[in-house]
Amino acid sequence: MYLSLISAWQISASRRLSLRALFPLIILAMGSSGKDVAKKLETLREKIRQHEYFYYVLDRPEISDLEFDKLMQQLKDVEAENPALITPDSPTQRVGGKPREGFVKVPHSSPMLSLDNTYNEEELRDWERRVHELSGRSDVDYVCELKLDGMSLALIYEDGKLVRGITRGDGSVGEDVTLNVRTVRSVPLSIPRDRLKKAGIPANFEVRGELLMPLAAFKKMNDDREAKGLAVFANPRNATAGTVRQLESKVTAERRLDYFPYMLLENGRTYFDRHSKTLDALHAAGFKVNQNRKLVHGIDEAWEFILQWEGKRDSLPYEIDGIVIKVDRTALQDEIGFTGKAPRWAIAYKYAARAGITKLENVRWQVGRTGKLTPVAELVPVFIGGTTVRNATLHNADEIGRLGIKIGDWVQVERGGDVIPKVAKIIDDKEHPRPHDLKAIEMPERCPVCGTKVVRTEGEVDYRCVNANCPAKLRETILHFASRGVMNIDGMGDALVNQLTEHGLVKNVADIYKLSKDDLLSLERMGDKSAQNILNEIEASKKLPLERVIYGLGIRMVGERTAQFLAEHFGSMEALENASVEELQNVNEVGPRIAESIVEFFSIAANRKLVERLREAKLTLSGEKKRRGTQLAGKTFVLTGTLAHFTRDEAKKMIEDAGGKVTGSVSKKTDYVVAGADAGSKLDKAKELGVKVIDEKEMETLAG
Ligand code: IVH
Repeated sequence: MYLSLISAWQISASRRLSLRALFPLIILAMGSSGKDVAKKLETLREKIRQHEYFYYVLDRPEISDLEFDKLMQQLKDVEAENPALITPDSPTQRVGGKPREGFVKVPHSSPMLSLDNTYNEEELRDWERRVHELSGRSDVDYVCELKLDGMSLALIYEDGKLVRGITRGDGSVGEDVTLNVRTVRSVPLSIPRDRLKKAGIPANFEVRGELLMPLAAFKKMNDDREAKGLAVFANPRNATAGTVRQLESKVTAERRLDYFPYMLLENGRTYFDRHSKTLDALHAAGFKVNQNRKLVHGIDEAWEFILQWEGKRDSLPYEIDGIVIKVDRTALQDEIGFTGKAPRWAIAYKYAARAGITKLENVRWQVGRTGKLTPVAELVPVFIGGTTVRNATLHNADEIGRLGIKIGDWVQVERGGDVIPKVAKIIDDKEHPRPHDLKAIEMPERCPVCGTKVVRTEGEVDYRCVNANCPAKLRETILHFASRGVMNIDGMGDALVNQLTEHGLVKNVADIYKLSKDDLLSLERMGDKSAQNILNEIEASKKLPLERVIYGLGIRMVGERTAQFLAEHFGSMEALENASVEELQNVNEVGPRIAESIVEFFSIAANRKLVERLREAKLTLSGEKKRRGTQLAGKTFVLTGTLAHFTRDEAKKMIEDAGGKVTGSVSKKTDYVVAGADAGSKLDKAKELGVKVIDEKEMETLAG
């Protein structure tokens, strides 16, 4: 390993001197004119870049670590003698400093989109059908790539030099993490003009790809953290995000991230006419394009690729959670287009959750924002798909009963890509016979945080802490309010919220808008710039639309979707505050229980006062009314096969505008399956369950 980039920094001055004596090149350089030194420096840098490329991009080093270290040291020494000649793209300049102003927000050249997911062959074939339909062609080539489990990152190059690295953020605006990105060895800091030319890439371009932490680096980092008594990261994806967003680039450098590009843009637009060409060109330019990719003709071959990698995924040095299939031709991609946040010309096929067997050691009850107590299984640590799992959810008391689980049991734990691991079942077999000394899981009597007696209302599965002032609830409420999908106050995460609530600076969400710079500066690890950034974020949150504020209030049973319907229906917080149970039930998907929960929330004086304070703080408490129909209210639809007159999205919109809901899979709860041509297993399932099957004409009639 070229550990040297970091350790070489730390080599003592005396060793540096002795190294200098070893290398005549330096002496030579010292004696030459400034121009000669500059030239020699560049030759040395190019040599080092070449070896970095062999090692970090191709995984095929051509010299030993020691030889590499020596070259690096030569460069450092010459640069130390000639500081004026140090260039930002020198291999010695990967690590350096921290951003002066925290992470500055930067707009993307074009939205950084996400991908839609499929989970089985039928859904994948449905997707292909849509591609055929939208492109008007039936012979489409696709590129299959691994779906790398990291975070997407944009790199901006000007005149062949890396000038900026930007996280995805919310897709439109990301954060400038350039200093940290520069430490990733597989990211070229500069690419010679002739190399770019040969690869057919313009001098100013943007690359988008996946930043990830290889499993070995992840394990090493967590082992080190554990030894130091620090909190460990849950999985490599979180570790990547945490690493790229911390302020010391030296720390990022130590953690060994890797970067695989999969897009090349010029002025926000795809540059080449085929995706396969993009990948080849990026490879030719010196980027680490993932080699495990394939150009295929039709979905049958893509399916083969998917099956092949499902069996081999554990042999990879990093985590993948599926396969991405992309239409190869850019012209066809343009024709096929996008939905709101994902291209229709690409799709992710997600592999099923992976499982492991371990022992249940204990169960603790965790208090959430609404006071709900969730049982969390504490497990003997088990390695599942590259991640050490220590905790898993048991959902609720009923689930504990359903599983029949006791402390000491062997359990199967499942982990999907994005979800919290869960306990799936008890294991009792030859290798894992059920132990005799099992202990029943105790149901909670008191809130583990504030000690108040818990309540379990008839007919409800959850135990709740009903103490309005329970510190756990307050913490979770603030975290929810500030989170990305809600008021999007970046920087207001666990650490800050803990301090704000512990110091009594924030006793409810309205207090956030009263925070002063001095308040923030009185907290630990808070500099002037960070405090200002947080104040800016708080100010910016005031512009977010009404539905976010409604969602942010944390009213029981009011999630993101319901908040949206409420905002559209009432058009103002005031109208919502004063709505009756009956009026509320006119809103899409709002039944008596949700309506009562909303009325109950606003019947509490403290909650009304809270809203009043948010109004005084000038949050957006009104919006545009939009009438959705109610003719399909409460009805759930599943679409399958190819519709003759609508795309899937158009059909979905029609159903939703009429108040209905569209889901992906057929169950007993489905009211209608809309079947188009070549409908597959979803249609069979509907027949098996006796779910009503209709055609698109009937769908139109129902939607009015
Ligand atoms: S393409 C417009 N290709 O998956 C195309 N994404 O779930 C957008 N990802 O945000 C992305 N491997 O972070 C693409 N080979 C791959 C990928 C990949 C991983 C990530 C990416 C994206 C997320 C969507």
